[in-house]
Amino acid sequence: MLRGRRLRRSTALREMLREHTLRIEDLICPLFIAEDESAAGPVPSMPGVKRHFVGRLDGVLDEIACLGLRGVILFGIPARKDACGSGASDPDGVVCRAIRAIKARLPELVVIADVCLCEYTDHGHCGLVRDGQILNDETLPALAAAAVAYARAGADIVAPSDMMDGRVAAIRAALDAAGLAETPIMAYSAKAASAYYGPFRDAAASAPGFGDRRTYQMDGANGREAMREIAADIAEGADLVIVKPALAYMDVLKEAARRFDVPMVAYNVSGEYAMVKAAAANGWIDERRVVLENLLGFKRAGAQLIISYHAPDVARWLGA
Ligand code: PBG
Ligand code: ZN
Repeated sequence: MLRGRRLRRSTALREMLREHTLRIEDLICPLFIAEDESAAGPVPSMPGVKRHFVGRLDGVLDEIACLGLRGVILFGIPARKDACGSGASDPDGVVCRAIRAIKARLPELVVIADVCLCEYTDHGHCGLVRDGQILNDETLPALAAAAVAYARAGADIVAPSDMMDGRVAAIRAALDAAGLAETPIMAYSAKAASAYYGPFRDAAASAPGFGDRRTYQMDGANGREAMREIAADIAEGADLVIVKPALAYMDVLKEAARRFDVPMVAYNVSGEYAMVKAAAANGWIDERRVVLENLLGFKRAGAQLIISYHAPDVARWLGA
Protein backbone atom coordinates (compact mmCIF):
# COMPACT_ATOMS: atom_id res chain seq x y z
CA MET A 1 0.00 0.00 0.00
CA LEU A 2 1.18 3.51 -0.77
CA ARG A 3 1.62 5.36 2.50
CA GLY A 4 1.66 8.89 1.16
CA ARG A 5 1.00 10.16 4.65
CA ARG A 6 4.55 9.15 5.72
CA LEU A 7 5.87 12.23 3.95
CA ARG A 8 3.18 14.58 5.26
CA ARG A 9 3.79 14.03 8.95
CA SER A 10 5.33 17.36 9.87
CA THR A 11 5.35 20.93 8.67
CA ALA A 12 9.11 20.80 8.11
CA LEU A 13 8.87 17.65 6.02
CA ARG A 14 6.01 19.07 3.96
CA GLU A 15 7.95 22.27 3.37
CA MET A 16 11.07 20.34 2.32
CA LEU A 17 9.12 18.25 -0.15
CA ARG A 18 7.09 21.07 -1.70
CA GLU A 19 7.54 20.84 -5.47
CA HIS A 20 6.46 24.37 -6.37
CA THR A 21 6.55 27.71 -4.63
CA LEU A 22 5.24 31.14 -5.34
CA ARG A 23 7.81 33.93 -5.30
CA ILE A 24 7.38 37.66 -5.43
CA GLU A 25 9.56 37.62 -8.56
CA ASP A 26 6.84 35.58 -10.32
CA LEU A 27 4.29 38.39 -10.10
CA ILE A 28 3.33 41.09 -12.58
CA CYS A 29 0.88 43.73 -11.38
CA PRO A 30 -1.56 45.29 -13.89
CA LEU A 31 -1.97 49.07 -13.65
CA PHE A 32 -4.77 51.12 -15.23
CA ILE A 33 -3.59 54.64 -16.06
CA ALA A 34 -6.07 57.42 -16.81
CA GLU A 35 -5.17 60.47 -18.87
CA ASP A 36 -8.08 62.47 -17.38
CA GLU A 37 -8.12 62.99 -13.66
CA SER A 38 -11.92 62.65 -13.74
CA ALA A 39 -11.57 59.05 -15.00
CA ALA A 40 -9.36 58.04 -12.06
CA GLY A 41 -10.73 56.18 -9.05
CA PRO A 42 -11.89 52.75 -7.92
CA VAL A 43 -13.19 50.09 -10.33
CA PRO A 44 -16.49 48.85 -8.83
CA SER A 45 -16.32 45.36 -10.33
CA MET A 46 -12.71 44.90 -9.15
CA PRO A 47 -12.60 45.77 -5.44
CA GLY A 48 -9.12 46.97 -4.49
CA VAL A 49 -8.21 48.00 -8.06
CA LYS A 50 -7.98 51.66 -9.11
CA ARG A 51 -7.52 53.72 -12.21
CA HIS A 52 -4.52 55.93 -11.49
CA PHE A 53 -4.23 59.47 -12.82
CA VAL A 54 -1.12 59.70 -15.01
CA GLY A 55 -0.18 63.01 -13.39
CA ARG A 56 -0.07 61.50 -9.92
CA LEU A 57 1.59 58.09 -10.01
CA ASP A 58 4.02 58.55 -7.13
CA GLY A 59 1.77 57.01 -4.49
CA VAL A 60 1.13 53.76 -6.29
CA LEU A 61 4.75 53.54 -7.45
CA ASP A 62 6.06 53.92 -3.92
CA GLU A 63 3.65 51.20 -2.79
CA ILE A 64 4.87 48.87 -5.55
CA ALA A 65 8.49 49.52 -4.60
CA CYS A 66 7.68 48.99 -0.93
CA LEU A 67 6.01 45.66 -1.64
CA GLY A 68 9.02 44.53 -3.66
CA LEU A 69 7.05 43.86 -6.84
CA ARG A 70 9.37 43.53 -9.84
CA GLY A 71 7.02 44.08 -12.78
CA VAL A 72 3.93 45.95 -13.90
CA ILE A 73 1.82 45.83 -17.06
CA LEU A 74 0.22 49.08 -18.18
CA PHE A 75 -3.20 49.75 -19.69
CA GLY A 76 -4.09 53.26 -20.80
CA ILE A 77 -7.42 55.05 -20.54
CA PRO A 78 -7.08 57.96 -22.98
CA ALA A 79 -9.00 61.23 -22.81
CA ARG A 80 -10.05 60.91 -26.46
CA LYS A 81 -10.75 58.04 -28.84
CA ASP A 82 -10.99 57.96 -32.63
CA ALA A 83 -11.78 55.50 -35.41
CA CYS A 84 -8.17 54.39 -35.89
CA GLY A 85 -7.03 54.42 -32.27
CA SER A 86 -4.32 56.96 -32.99
CA GLY A 87 -3.85 57.71 -29.28
CA ALA A 88 -2.22 54.30 -28.87
CA SER A 89 1.00 55.39 -30.55
CA ASP A 90 1.05 59.04 -29.44
CA PRO A 91 4.42 59.71 -27.76
CA ASP A 92 2.60 62.20 -25.52
CA GLY A 93 -0.28 59.77 -24.92
CA VAL A 94 -1.20 58.34 -21.57
CA VAL A 95 0.91 55.16 -21.68
CA CYS A 96 4.09 56.85 -22.95
CA ARG A 97 3.77 59.50 -20.26
CA ALA A 98 3.23 56.81 -17.61
CA ILE A 99 6.28 54.85 -18.80
CA ARG A 100 8.49 57.93 -18.55
CA ALA A 101 7.13 58.76 -15.08
CA ILE A 102 7.71 55.21 -13.86
CA LYS A 103 11.22 55.02 -15.28
CA ALA A 104 12.09 58.35 -13.67
CA ARG A 105 11.01 57.17 -10.23
CA LEU A 106 11.67 53.40 -10.34
CA PRO A 107 14.24 52.71 -13.05
CA GLU A 108 14.63 49.06 -11.99
CA LEU A 109 10.92 48.19 -12.21
CA VAL A 110 10.18 46.02 -15.26
CA VAL A 111 7.61 47.99 -17.24
CA ILE A 112 5.50 45.97 -19.67
CA ALA A 113 3.26 47.90 -22.07
CA ASP A 114 0.11 46.18 -23.31
CA VAL A 115 -0.21 46.87 -27.03
CA CYS A 116 -3.75 47.03 -28.39
CA LEU A 117 -6.13 49.48 -29.99
CA CYS A 118 -9.38 48.72 -28.13
CA GLU A 119 -8.83 51.33 -25.41
CA TYR A 120 -8.16 53.96 -28.11
CA THR A 121 -10.76 53.24 -30.80
CA ASP A 122 -14.23 54.81 -30.61
CA HIS A 123 -15.76 51.47 -31.71
CA GLY A 124 -13.85 49.53 -29.02
CA HIS A 125 -12.42 46.84 -31.29
CA CYS A 126 -8.78 45.73 -31.13
CA GLY A 127 -8.24 46.45 -34.83
CA LEU A 128 -9.28 48.88 -37.52
CA VAL A 129 -12.83 48.49 -38.81
CA ARG A 130 -14.33 48.82 -42.29
CA ASP A 131 -17.94 47.92 -43.16
CA GLY A 132 -18.37 46.21 -39.82
CA GLN A 133 -15.33 43.96 -40.39
CA ILE A 134 -12.25 43.97 -38.18
CA LEU A 135 -9.33 44.35 -40.58
CA ASN A 136 -6.19 42.31 -40.01
CA ASP A 137 -3.28 43.44 -42.18
CA GLU A 138 -4.35 47.10 -42.13
CA THR A 139 -4.15 47.01 -38.31
CA LEU A 140 -0.57 45.75 -38.12
CA PRO A 141 1.20 49.10 -38.78
CA ALA A 142 -0.86 50.77 -36.02
CA LEU A 143 0.12 48.07 -33.53
CA ALA A 144 3.76 48.24 -34.59
CA ALA A 145 3.75 52.03 -34.20
CA ALA A 146 2.33 51.72 -30.68
CA ALA A 147 4.94 49.12 -29.70
CA VAL A 148 7.77 51.32 -31.02
CA ALA A 149 6.38 54.35 -29.17
CA TYR A 150 6.24 52.44 -25.86
CA ALA A 151 9.72 50.97 -26.30
CA ARG A 152 11.09 54.44 -27.15
CA ALA A 153 9.42 55.85 -24.04
CA GLY A 154 11.33 53.24 -22.01
CA ALA A 155 9.12 50.15 -21.78
CA ASP A 156 11.17 47.03 -21.01
CA ILE A 157 8.75 44.66 -22.77
CA VAL A 158 5.85 45.13 -25.21
CA ALA A 159 2.84 42.82 -24.97
CA PRO A 160 0.47 42.68 -27.97
CA SER A 161 -3.02 41.55 -26.87
CA ASP A 162 -5.02 42.21 -30.04
CA MET A 163 -4.92 38.69 -31.60
CA MET A 164 -4.42 39.95 -35.19
CA ASP A 165 -2.48 37.44 -37.30
CA GLY A 166 1.11 38.38 -38.00
CA ARG A 167 1.36 41.13 -35.40
CA VAL A 168 4.37 39.65 -33.63
CA ALA A 169 6.37 39.66 -36.87
CA ALA A 170 5.23 43.19 -37.69
CA ILE A 171 6.14 44.47 -34.23
CA ARG A 172 9.50 42.66 -34.24
CA ALA A 173 10.40 44.16 -37.64
CA ALA A 174 9.38 47.66 -36.55
CA LEU A 175 11.29 47.46 -33.26
CA ASP A 176 14.40 46.20 -35.03
CA ALA A 177 14.16 48.91 -37.68
CA ALA A 178 13.88 51.53 -34.91
CA GLY A 179 17.07 50.28 -33.25
CA LEU A 180 15.10 48.51 -30.50
CA ALA A 181 16.30 44.97 -31.15
CA GLU A 182 16.79 44.43 -27.40
CA THR A 183 13.12 44.97 -26.53
CA PRO A 184 11.38 41.62 -25.92
CA ILE A 185 7.85 40.76 -27.05
CA MET A 186 5.49 39.08 -24.59
CA ALA A 187 2.73 37.83 -26.88
CA TYR A 188 -0.81 37.11 -25.78
CA SER A 189 -0.69 34.03 -28.01
CA ALA A 190 -3.47 31.85 -26.65
CA LYS A 191 -6.15 34.36 -25.75
CA ALA A 192 -9.73 33.11 -25.72
CA ALA A 193 -12.85 35.16 -26.49
CA SER A 194 -13.83 35.00 -22.84
CA ALA A 195 -16.62 36.28 -20.62
CA TYR A 196 -13.98 36.67 -17.91
CA TYR A 197 -12.80 40.02 -19.35
CA GLY A 198 -15.97 41.86 -18.31
CA PRO A 199 -14.58 43.75 -15.31
CA PHE A 200 -11.46 44.75 -17.30
CA ARG A 201 -13.65 46.33 -19.95
CA ASP A 202 -15.40 48.34 -17.21
CA ALA A 203 -12.01 49.43 -15.90
CA ALA A 204 -10.53 50.30 -19.30
CA ALA A 205 -13.76 51.45 -20.98
CA SER A 206 -12.84 49.15 -23.87
CA ALA A 207 -15.95 47.07 -24.55
CA PRO A 208 -16.69 46.69 -28.27
CA GLY A 209 -19.42 49.08 -29.43
CA PHE A 210 -20.88 46.50 -31.83
CA GLY A 211 -20.55 42.73 -32.14
CA ASP A 212 -17.90 40.86 -30.14
CA ARG A 213 -14.28 39.74 -30.44
CA ARG A 214 -14.92 36.20 -31.67
CA THR A 215 -13.46 36.73 -35.14
CA TYR A 216 -10.04 37.45 -33.67
CA GLN A 217 -9.84 36.06 -30.14
CA MET A 218 -9.78 32.26 -29.93
CA ASP A 219 -12.70 29.92 -29.50
CA GLY A 220 -12.30 28.64 -25.94
CA ALA A 221 -13.12 25.10 -27.03
CA ASN A 222 -9.85 24.73 -28.92
CA GLY A 223 -6.79 23.48 -27.05
CA ARG A 224 -4.93 22.14 -30.08
CA GLU A 225 -5.47 25.37 -32.00
CA ALA A 226 -3.94 27.21 -29.04
CA MET A 227 -0.71 25.28 -29.68
CA ARG A 228 -0.72 26.42 -33.33
CA GLU A 229 -1.19 30.04 -32.26
CA ILE A 230 1.69 29.78 -29.79
CA ALA A 231 3.98 28.06 -32.31
CA ALA A 232 3.21 30.78 -34.87
CA ASP A 233 3.97 33.59 -32.40
CA ILE A 234 7.25 31.97 -31.36
CA ALA A 235 8.20 31.55 -35.01
CA GLU A 236 7.45 35.26 -35.55
CA GLY A 237 9.71 36.22 -32.66
CA ALA A 238 7.74 36.09 -29.40
CA ASP A 239 10.16 35.95 -26.45
CA LEU A 240 7.50 35.11 -23.86
CA VAL A 241 4.01 33.66 -24.31
CA ILE A 242 0.80 34.44 -22.41
CA VAL A 243 -2.10 32.03 -21.88
CA LYS A 244 -5.30 33.88 -21.00
CA PRO A 245 -7.55 33.47 -19.08
CA ALA A 246 -5.64 31.25 -16.68
CA LEU A 247 -7.96 29.26 -14.41
CA ALA A 248 -10.29 27.78 -17.02
CA TYR A 249 -7.34 27.23 -19.40
CA MET A 250 -4.76 25.54 -17.18
CA ASP A 251 -4.69 22.55 -19.53
CA VAL A 252 -3.59 24.91 -22.33
CA LEU A 253 -0.92 26.38 -20.07
CA LYS A 254 0.39 22.96 -19.07
CA GLU A 255 0.50 21.62 -22.61
CA ALA A 256 2.20 24.80 -23.84
CA ALA A 257 4.85 24.61 -21.12
CA ARG A 258 5.50 20.98 -22.07
CA ARG A 259 5.85 21.75 -25.78
CA PHE A 260 7.61 25.11 -25.96
CA ASP A 261 10.89 26.23 -24.43
CA VAL A 262 9.99 29.88 -23.94
CA PRO A 263 8.86 31.37 -20.62
CA MET A 264 5.11 30.90 -20.11
CA VAL A 265 2.96 33.59 -18.52
CA ALA A 266 -0.45 32.97 -16.94
CA TYR A 267 -2.87 35.92 -17.05
CA ASN A 268 -5.18 35.62 -14.04
CA VAL A 269 -7.83 37.88 -15.56
CA SER A 270 -10.26 40.44 -14.18
CA GLY A 271 -13.29 38.13 -13.95
CA GLU A 272 -11.28 35.53 -12.06
CA TYR A 273 -10.22 38.25 -9.63
CA ALA A 274 -13.77 39.58 -9.28
CA MET A 275 -15.19 36.14 -8.45
CA VAL A 276 -12.67 35.56 -5.68
CA LYS A 277 -13.18 39.04 -4.26
CA ALA A 278 -16.98 38.67 -4.30
CA ALA A 279 -16.92 35.32 -2.53
CA ALA A 280 -14.39 36.60 -0.01
CA ALA A 281 -16.47 39.73 0.68
CA ASN A 282 -19.39 37.45 1.52
CA GLY A 283 -17.26 35.44 3.91
CA TRP A 284 -17.73 32.32 1.79
CA ILE A 285 -14.05 31.58 1.17
CA ASP A 286 -10.72 32.27 2.85
CA GLU A 287 -9.39 34.85 0.37
CA ARG A 288 -5.71 34.48 1.16
CA ARG A 289 -5.68 30.69 0.95
CA VAL A 290 -7.80 30.62 -2.23
CA VAL A 291 -5.64 33.20 -4.00
CA LEU A 292 -2.40 31.44 -3.07
CA GLU A 293 -3.89 28.11 -4.16
CA ASN A 294 -4.93 29.53 -7.56
CA LEU A 295 -1.54 31.14 -8.18
CA LEU A 296 0.40 28.08 -7.06
CA GLY A 297 -1.76 26.12 -9.52
CA PHE A 298 -0.42 28.30 -12.34
CA LYS A 299 3.15 27.54 -11.25
CA ARG A 300 2.42 23.80 -11.08
CA ALA A 301 0.88 23.95 -14.57
CA GLY A 302 4.10 25.48 -15.89
CA ALA A 303 3.82 29.25 -15.64
CA GLN A 304 7.05 31.10 -15.02
CA LEU A 305 5.29 34.43 -14.52
CA ILE A 306 1.79 35.36 -13.37
CA ILE A 307 -0.06 38.55 -14.24
CA SER A 308 -2.59 39.09 -11.46
CA TYR A 309 -4.63 41.87 -9.84
CA HIS A 310 -3.95 40.02 -6.59
CA ALA A 311 -0.21 40.82 -6.93
CA PRO A 312 -0.09 43.54 -4.23
CA ASP A 313 -1.92 41.35 -1.71
CA VAL A 314 0.22 38.33 -2.56
CA ALA A 315 3.38 40.41 -2.19
CA ARG A 316 2.17 41.44 1.26
CA TRP A 317 1.38 37.85 2.26
CA LEU A 318 4.69 36.51 0.94
CA GLY A 319 6.61 39.30 2.62
CA ALA A 320 5.04 38.73 6.02
C1 PBG B 1 -7.05 44.39 -24.48
C2 PBG B 1 -6.98 43.50 -23.29
C3 PBG B 1 -8.03 42.88 -22.60
C4 PBG B 1 -7.46 42.22 -21.52
C5 PBG B 1 -6.09 42.44 -21.59
N1 PBG B 1 -5.80 43.21 -22.69
C6 PBG B 1 -9.49 42.94 -22.83
C7 PBG B 1 -10.07 42.30 -24.01
O1 PBG B 1 -9.41 41.61 -24.78
O2 PBG B 1 -11.26 42.54 -24.20
C8 PBG B 1 -8.22 41.45 -20.48
C9 PBG B 1 -7.60 41.42 -19.14
C10 PBG B 1 -8.50 41.05 -18.02
O3 PBG B 1 -9.69 40.72 -18.17
O4 PBG B 1 -8.00 41.10 -16.89
N2 PBG B 1 -7.08 43.69 -25.68
ZN1 ZN C 1 -7.83 44.95 -27.43
